[in-house]
Amino acid sequence: MKVRKAIFPVAGLGTRFLPATKSSPKEMLPLIDKPLVQYVVEEAVAAGIDQIIFVTGRTKRAIEDHFDSSPELENHLEEKGKEETLQAMREISDLVDIYYVRQKKALGLGHAILCARDFIGNEPFAVLLGDDIIDAPANPCLKQLLGVYEHYKGSVLALEQVPLKQISSYGCVAVNRITDRVMEVTDMVEKPKQSEAPSDLAIIGRYVLTPAIFPILEQQQPGRGGEIQLTDAIKRLSQDEAVYGCLFEGLRHDCGDKLGFLKATVDLALKRDEFKDEFTAYLKGRLGC
Ligand code: G1P
Repeated sequence: MKVRKAIFPVAGLGTRFLPATKSSPKEMLPLIDKPLVQYVVEEAVAAGIDQIIFVTGRTKRAIEDHFDSSPELENHLEEKGKEETLQAMREISDLVDIYYVRQKKALGLGHAILCARDFIGNEPFAVLLGDDIIDAPANPCLKQLLGVYEHYKGSVLALEQVPLKQISSYGCVAVNRITDRVMEVTDMVEKPKQSEAPSDLAIIGRYVLTPAIFPILEQQQPGRGGEIQLTDAIKRLSQDEAVYGCLFEGLRHDCGDKLGFLKATVDLALKRDEFKDEFTAYLKGRLGC
């Protein structure tokens, strides 16, 4: 069955970015001139997703406004003859069908996914986490996962090798390799201590899941941090049906982290034709090289 729907859990409080996120969503922080969430929505659309549901919370209204049409702004741009910008604004609101549901309590990522159950129904679906911005223009990360899903007919998690000292920030998996990039997941643990990690393979914020995850999530007890963890539910799922991992190709930026966000900004700026030369010269000057 084709994967058409995606869940974007965006109810998190963004405490790592305070005070910037005190009254506005972290998903709206701009990388150069585009909010983080738009990069991720564009990745989903490029992978063939045509319906998205945001699992939101209080203070997230700006996300809804961003993907809505904006008649006042559009009229203004039209009057000023700013055709190109006008076009770009219309493209945002025409990108994809978007739905919203509220996660009323911060009970964890697993609980957020469960909030979208009625919308997803009995179909396979994608989950995209807005903190992870993955630069893979030739073959978007989610598209790579969907390729694995279509071939192996099971849930797929995006994986990346990370330095072991960082593994406690991620869900971590044990695997049996099938090919260079595809593996079967044999065990999973959410944010393990370095000494207890089964490998250095971290789960990155892209998933393709079968709907069999929902009844499991419904029964899932709180895990790490007292939250209902998606990782724990997928581990349980893997006892009933094969779950795969995909070592995706592309450069991931952890934009939930200040340094990661800074690196992503520099990286994307260096790729933008309009200012890459001047920006390179500026950085060289500052670094004295
Ligand atoms: C979540 C997941 C974790 C995963 C990570 C990827 O954690 O629970 O398994 O590795 O996203 O970004 P969070 O970063 O939301 O705490």
